[in-house]
Amino acid sequence: MAGKRGALIVLEGVDRAGKTTQCSRLVQALQQSGRPAEMMRFPDRTTTIGKLISAYLEKKSDLEDHTVHLLFSANRWELVPLIKKKLEQGITLVVDRYAFSGAAFTSAKPGFSLDWCMQPDVGLPKPDLVMFLQLSPAEAALRGQFGQERYETSAFQNMVQQKFEQLMKDPTVNWQVIDAAQNIESVHRDITAHSVNAIKEAQNLPVGELWN
Ligand code: TMP
Ligand code: MG
Repeated sequence: MAGKRGALIVLEGVDRAGKTTQCSRLVQALQQSGRPAEMMRFPDRTTTIGKLISAYLEKKSDLEDHTVHLLFSANRWELVPLIKKKLEQGITLVVDRYAFSGAAFTSAKPGFSLDWCMQPDVGLPKPDLVMFLQLSPAEAALRGQFGQERYETSAFQNMVQQKFEQLMKDPTVNWQVIDAAQNIESVHRDITAHSVNAIKEAQNLPVGELWN
């Protein structure tokens, strides 16, 4: 179609920063303002690969660390045809986690370089905007206990935060840091403003390739 494409918008951040809440609020706000929008999330636990990942996260199975990293990446690649189709149809995609979580979480494990962790995701559709919901460990602690899934400990999340900070130094990605310690409404307002801007900018540009 000759019309304007949708934007690929990603929300990242450590656990309990409010990503999922803000993704649904954003999709709702965009739709209400007449901008077609849909939500996606990674891992997408509904596919065959996603079910393997989900069992691993729930500690119902063990997987070797490189293997699960590649499964997370494969779970993104298997959705690429759908992502491209939706964007071409003019639908803006609001994505709860993407390759940045992939690189940050695995590289927080001993023996994994950030560079190695990024490689499987090189060439994925490049987000037009990545918003990092910034929340200090102290503020996160006020939001209650961690869940029971793998990676949900404060020591690991602190490592992940450091890896995100390294990833955010990359000027080829349109990073915006959002203060997630604000109330839900204020965070929502910030996120919506950045998104409306990104949708306007993206509509006449081709989709880029991540980390390429
Ligand atoms: P969530 O479904 O609550 O967002 O949790 C998914 C978990 O998986 C979370 O701890 C982050 C982690 N993760 C990775 O390790 N690699 C990835 O590529 C992605 C998308 C998530
Ligand atoms: Mg979780």
